[in-house]
Amino acid sequence: MTPEQNLSSRPNRATELFRTEVPVVLGPFGGVSSVQLTAAVSEGGGLGSYGLYGYDAQAIHKTAAQLKDATAKPFALNLWVPDGTEDTPLTAAAFDRYVSILRPYFDELDLPLPEMPARYLPDYGEQVEATLEAGPAVVSFVFGVPAPEIIEAAHRRGIVVVGTATTVAEAVALETGGVDAVVASGMESGGHRVSFLKPAEDSLVGTFALVPQVADSVRIPVIAAGGIADRRGFAAAMALGADAVQVGSAFLATRESAAVPAYREILHSPAARETVLTRVLSGRLARGIPNRIIADLDPARIAPFPAQNWLTGRFRPEAAAQGNTELMSLWAGQSAALIRHDSAAAVLAELLAGGTSA
Ligand SMILES: Cc1cc2nc3c(=O)[nH]c(=O)nc-3n(C[C@H](O)[C@H](O)[C@H](O)COP(=O)(O)O)c2cc1C
Repeated sequence: MTPEQNLSSRPNRATELFRTEVPVVLGPFGGVSSVQLTAAVSEGGGLGSYGLYGYDAQAIHKTAAQLKDATAKPFALNLWVPDGTEDTPLTAAAFDRYVSILRPYFDELDLPLPEMPARYLPDYGEQVEATLEAGPAVVSFVFGVPAPEIIEAAHRRGIVVVGTATTVAEAVALETGGVDAVVASGMESGGHRVSFLKPAEDSLVGTFALVPQVADSVRIPVIAAGGIADRRGFAAAMALGADAVQVGSAFLATRESAAVPAYREILHSPAARETVLTRVLSGRLARGIPNRIIADLDPARIAPFPAQNWLTGRFRPEAAAQGNTELMSLWAGQSAALIRHDSAAAVLAELLAGGTSA
């Protein structure tokens, strides 16, 4: 069978599973998701996703209600699985030390220094409960395998469960754990490297190598993520054995996105040709466009995740509001320089321009 025959005859298990018209998933954006973009991708026939990182139960219910008002089509809600380190408190002395390292940025943005919080993240159990109660078509997870009781509770409500892998071993662990589909996220992807079996630095497999190996190793549908921004990337991912693609950066650059104008401008500029992997903004490895704060901060002198993410999260939104791209996170993938379109509909049309069967 030629690759073309194989592709065109392939039943689309992903669209059947997600009940979508086309095999395109909008990547969730923790902290930068918008109801408008999620709904636009779902309305366009794909699966819009919304990142719930940092959201408490109340915010989850509010967001889900807004999404349901905006679209009757299926959408996904996305959660980060805790790895246990979240609960390790910092001593007051350590907190003060990390704050003093970041003090110049608070001063530059005219912000008061933060007080030590009772916790850095909402309770995961509450997040899961609220998310399942909200009843999205799909719930997707990163940074681990969701517990069997969570998967069972989702299935009882008819919710499809998706996991995310950065290596073949993680994809196999997710399938064994009972998820319904797996995102294979190559190291080209924008945002955090969501590795959970080995350190992220030891799990940097490119999309071109990862997708076919994951497709060979699991029976559940595979969604390729990382570096896909146009019809060529879509066709390549499907040819490699993916059942669907997940696209982040190209959608983040559209007018429906919650990225502030200065962020969107930079995604459409020559600066998007360079991305780096860094731990300094959150304590976890993530890919973004380099700026002054990434250059300035010493990875050996940052707080662990999630404290570092919380600490820089006290000033990054203000930097974003001021359009100060040197002091915010500019998460973006290696395909950012391929970005040409300004609306979700145009990105969808571009991805599918070669035909949905590749
Ligand atoms: C700003 C930003 C935030 C992200 N946050 C999340 C997240 O919270 N959860 C998640 O599963 N993926 C997250 N991602 C990854 C995207 O959903 C998607 O998988 C990735 O962007 C695909 O690679 P691409 O940027 O090359 O298209 C994020 C990506 C970006 C750019």
